Amino acid sequence: MTTDETPEAVQLAANRAMWDERVPIHTASTFYDIPGFVAGADPLRSFEVAEVGEVTGKSLLHLQCHFGQDTLGWARRGATVTGLDFSVPAVEAARELAGTVDLPDARFFAADVYDAVKVLDGETFDIVYTGLGALCWLPDITRWAETVAALLAPGGFLYLSEFHPITDVFDENGLTVTTDYFRRGPMSWDEPGTYTDATVETENNLSYEWQHGLGEIVSALIGTGLRLEFLHEHDFSLFKRFTSFERSTDGITEVYRFPAGQPRVPLMYSLRARKSS
Ligand SMILES: C[S@@+](CC[C@H](N)C(=O)[O-])C[C@H]1O[C@@H](n2cnc3c(N)ncnc32)[C@H](O)[C@@H]1O
Repeated sequence: MTTDETPEAVQLAANRAMWDERVPIHTASTFYDIPGFVAGADPLRSFEVAEVGEVTGKSLLHLQCHFGQDTLGWARRGATVTGLDFSVPAVEAARELAGTVDLPDARFFAADVYDAVKVLDGETFDIVYTGLGALCWLPDITRWAETVAALLAPGGFLYLSEFHPITDVFDENGLTVTTDYFRRGPMSWDEPGTYTDATVETENNLSYEWQHGLGEIVSALIGTGLRLEFLHEHDFSLFKRFTSFERSTDGITEVYRFPAGQPRVPLMYSLRARKSS
């Protein structure tokens, strides 16, 4: 077996093929609404903007940036942005979008997260931003945390906003626990379509995901020496995760919540962890 044929390499290659195929579907989708973004709509969620704070003049690295819409959202707010994603079509689309919205200084790199330090040649950043369906694609959360810490400049911080891992244990109603919170190791899926269009025909449908508990994620970050400044658990999600969800607005962001009267669990979380200066 050569290095490229390790189970992890095979799994990541399947994931990359799956993501590569979905990039043009996503860029054409109403879900991502590129025309709206080009016209000036802000793709960032209001809670993220509030929790990250002022970014003007700061360098920001977006890990797993997909086709860069959120990355460019931070650029519009004044950050000097760099995006990194292992999907070449995603990075090409990000560069094209940066040209369309006249943000030529935005840089995008095609690389695995775990290779980010090497690919970025040791460059460090004021802010590392990531999340919203990112960590589940990574097999090793300790290696991820070490990578993030190495990418941060002294005094810089990681801002992570993610879907809460507890939501993975419930049935589609969000009422009954059907899956073990502590399951680990790769889970494989073989499903056509994508979250922007479940009915679209796709060929590369095999993917692998890894479930990471909240405690593991926080402990991995603290273990690198980063100082946790907050960990917020949110009672909203960004999509209709469970059938009972009702749509509401949280400031300017469309969100989904359990109906009034139904007991709640956290649906998302966000955290900020800072490197000492
Ligand atoms: C759900 S998307 C993230 C969505 C993103 N928050 C956005 O702006 O829409 C997950 C992204 O992770 C990328 N990805 C998955 N595994 C990766 C890895 N090991 N290294 C780098 N990027 C990866 C995929 O190519 C995809 O663009």
